[in-house]
Amino acid sequence: MMIDPATLNGLEAHRILISLIVPRPIAWVTSVSPDGIVNAAPYSFFSGVRSKPPVISVSAGQGRHGEKDTPRNIAATGEFVVNLVSGDQAEQMNRSATEYPYGMSEPEEIGIELAPSETVNVPRIADSPAALECSLQQIIPVGDPPASLILGEVTAYRIRDDLEWDRIEGIDPQAMDVIGRLNLNSYLRITETFSMERIRYEVDD
Ligand SMILES: Cc1cc2nc3c(=O)[nH]c(=O)nc-3n(C[C@H](O)[C@H](O)[C@H](O)COP(=O)(O)O)c2cc1C
Repeated sequence: MMIDPATLNGLEAHRILISLIVPRPIAWVTSVSPDGIVNAAPYSFFSGVRSKPPVISVSAGQGRHGEKDTPRNIAATGEFVVNLVSGDQAEQMNRSATEYPYGMSEPEEIGIELAPSETVNVPRIADSPAALECSLQQIIPVGDPPASLILGEVTAYRIRDDLEWDRIEGIDPQAMDVIGRLNLNSYLRITETFSMERIRYEVDD
């Protein structure tokens, strides 16, 4: 089967893409408006770009009423926090995806507990397994009407106190109980993992 993207309407085009790029991690992004209102929303077009200095990307499409609150706040303040989402936080994360009007605070409406960050003036989500405090590097407009590809430099990694950090292994994803997004309304939890050694190509002298 060959599907020509040009034949798909907006909804179909979105649905096929999110069903094929799976599973996706979820960036639960907190940001603050110039008036000091805290916003929280999930973004699964989220990825790492480079590690030293660490840069991550989040892509925000157009909302029903134009630009979404998250890119708008980040463009205005130059800061945001990417909070990871645990299984226990799934319901709250899903509720925070509601397209509330600009200036309405999801954490306040839903009762998401916040905590101060160390390096940015944007609070993190208190119970998240990890929070990546970010300083805006650039926003790249992609297409027309533009999606906002947000590049942020990580200024601090905040790991929940009950989790262990190993300099080689990093943080255990299963201990964090992070969830990922699949297609439309389906998500996954990490219930099974497997390991493989990296194979190095040796050159004979
Ligand atoms: C799990 C999940 C992942 C999402 N990922 C994205 C995404 O990558 N990009 C996007 O533009 N919207 C995404 N959305 C939709 C936004 O969360 C939604 O439009 C939200 O209202 C935006 O909030 P804001 O205007 O406060 O930023 C996602 C929704 C869910 C539930």
